[in-house]
Amino acid sequence: MNLHTSSAAASPAPAPAPSRRVPVARTLGVSRMFGTGSSVVHAVEGVTVSFERGVLSAVIGPSGSGKTTLMHLLAGLDSPTVGSVELDGVALDGLDDTRLAALRHERTGFVFQSFNLMPALTALENIRLPETLGRRVRRNDRAWEQQLVARLGIAPLLDRRPGELSGGQQQRVAIARALAHRPAVVFADEPTGNLDMRTSGEVLALLSELVTESDCGIVMVTHDPVAASHAGRVVALRDGRIVSDTGARSAAQLAAVMLGSTATAGGSGFADIGATAVER
Ligand SMILES: Nc1ncnc2c1ncn2[C@@H]1O[C@H](COP(=O)(O)OP(=O)(O)OP(=O)(O)O)[C@@H](O)[C@H]1O
Ligand SMILES: [Mg+2]
Repeated sequence: MNLHTSSAAASPAPAPAPSRRVPVARTLGVSRMFGTGSSVVHAVEGVTVSFERGVLSAVIGPSGSGKTTLMHLLAGLDSPTVGSVELDGVALDGLDDTRLAALRHERTGFVFQSFNLMPALTALENIRLPETLGRRVRRNDRAWEQQLVARLGIAPLLDRRPGELSGGQQQRVAIARALAHRPAVVFADEPTGNLDMRTSGEVLALLSELVTESDCGIVMVTHDPVAASHAGRVVALRDGRIVSDTGARSAAQLAAVMLGSTATAGGSGFADIGATAVER
């Protein structure tokens, strides 16, 4: 039986609601252990989480809570010890290295704390580096690139090399590189870690606007409550586990979360915020 033939048949099909779309990245019961025996570290433990398009999501938690490990699992840069991961609807278990690399190449973008631009290349050559390395250029990619460059305010800087750019300008170039091929998901690990407060704010504001304009999902790992306060969703980790999953929170609320998380016993800020969690 066709379940989609009732009243909707007469009118044009509405755009799918974001929540109905395929998650851009998701884990199902993933754990990642390092080491063996008495020295085993449970970096990520039993995490089930999914990320959608159009949302800037922050993954927060104290140092060592498993943020980077989880991001690497979501991006297919590491494999779980237990559980499974899907990237834009594709199950990663069983993919060989070539197919995994191709999937990452086409559907993900990365923004790093240290910008990771090639010093010998101009800003524009850096933005196009992935295609120089073999990523195919699709119709409208140049128009989108132009739009992105204008949006990020880097049009006058395209001929400059990274050494001739400020940190904030370099990170804007890195964001253009991450978004130029319209990935399903961008992973950002402490993207404002090397920027001053004002520049951080500008970069984060751009990320939160571009996440809707480019219709990708952005998963940002950070231990900075101010950075996380720009996110529409905040997933908090502690000891490798998700302890809360909420909508947007103020920097002050998130600072309380972070401080509470470092308490050795009781009184967890995570528990407090978890109690008021907004289900998404
Ligand atoms: N390759 C590895 N080998 C052994 N242990 C590891 C490895 N990678 C991470 N770990 C351990 O896993 C735990 C989680 O590390 P992870 O880097 O994910 O934390 P994090 O939340 O990103 O911390 P930070 O905020 O300091 O970047 C830590 O105890 C870390 O020492
Ligand atoms: Mg980390």
